[in-house]
Amino acid sequence: MKRIFSGIKPSGRLHIGNYLGAIKNWITLQDEYQCVWGIVDYHAITVPYNPKELEERVIDCAASYIAAGLDPEKSILMLQSQVKEHTELAWILNTITPISWLERVPTFKDKAKQFSKSLNMGLLDYPVLMAADIILYKADAVPVGEDQLPHLELTREIVRRFNNTFGQTFPEPKAITSSGALIKGLDGNSKMGKSLENCIYLDETPEEIWKKLSTAVTDPQRIRRNDPGDPEVCNIFSLHKLFSKKEQIDYVNNGCRTADIGCLDCKKILSNNIAAELSPIREKLIELKNNRDYLKDVLNEGIRKSKEIAIQTMSEVYDKIGTNYKFLK
Ligand code: AMP
Ligand code: TRP
Repeated sequence: MKRIFSGIKPSGRLHIGNYLGAIKNWITLQDEYQCVWGIVDYHAITVPYNPKELEERVIDCAASYIAAGLDPEKSILMLQSQVKEHTELAWILNTITPISWLERVPTFKDKAKQFSKSLNMGLLDYPVLMAADIILYKADAVPVGEDQLPHLELTREIVRRFNNTFGQTFPEPKAITSSGALIKGLDGNSKMGKSLENCIYLDETPEEIWKKLSTAVTDPQRIRRNDPGDPEVCNIFSLHKLFSKKEQIDYVNNGCRTADIGCLDCKKILSNNIAAELSPIREKLIELKNNRDYLKDVLNEGIRKSKEIAIQTMSEVYDKIGTNYKFLK
């Protein structure tokens, strides 16, 4: 069976961008592939964070995975920091990765601007740890949102260099992107992201969803109720395409263009549809967060299984790079 790895940083509650860009796609892959879903906490600590909150975020992430439909009976759910081979392999990959490859990664360039005075090595090295996450399991494919494609391309380059230097060891993983592509935040501007306060989170109530949507940005040209709007430039319409039925999409598309319906009417339909899709997830999430023992068992089992694969890969890596010292045996 072919293998898949993907992961999410436990840097805040999961949102509909994570759900549509990643997890929803993951659920459908569980039957076809052996899947390893990581909670990548060592990636989360590359930006300022509160160590006292990390555990809660990991628990929240694990519960969200299962509530959204990942099945621990079918897939492996693991926690990156607890399988030390991830960071060990990242170090080895560091030795064959040119700095210039890392400096041209778009997310690094963004972070370099954002943290111009406190740019740490972890941010530069982020894609190398990500490459290690993937190839430690010899993953054939990696389902991610579009924003991660440059990272995936770099992983493939690192794999090629490793295989050329030390002999064929790792497959070149291919990206699987979902139809949701890149979900914009409620500001209609940047991508929906945990750190940007522009999200609808998976555990929000129908009232909270409505409160956020009612003030979300729409077509900026549609100022008065009677102005006709252009759905193609409206982020609310993009969300309709992901959450609403075809008839509803046609209805708001036409109604907006003719100004027959106002933005609030359009948002109300969307709000109901998002709430309907998220309600079962929210309920399951609350139930799971009250059942810590179950979450602990799932993660411990996932860590055990992923470690088994990781140890096998590393033994091959030690042979290849020459650290399997015979004189110590
Ligand atoms: P992160 O929250 O940055 O750890 O992202 C975890 C996964 O969710 C990755 O596969 C991302 O591509 C995906 N993701 C995060 N934000 C978005 C978004 N706004 N639109 C689409 N996918 C996203
Ligand atoms: N960089 C990814 C993100 O921000 C998270 C991640 C870390 C990941 N390691 C990974 C995704 C390995 C896929 C595979 O979304």
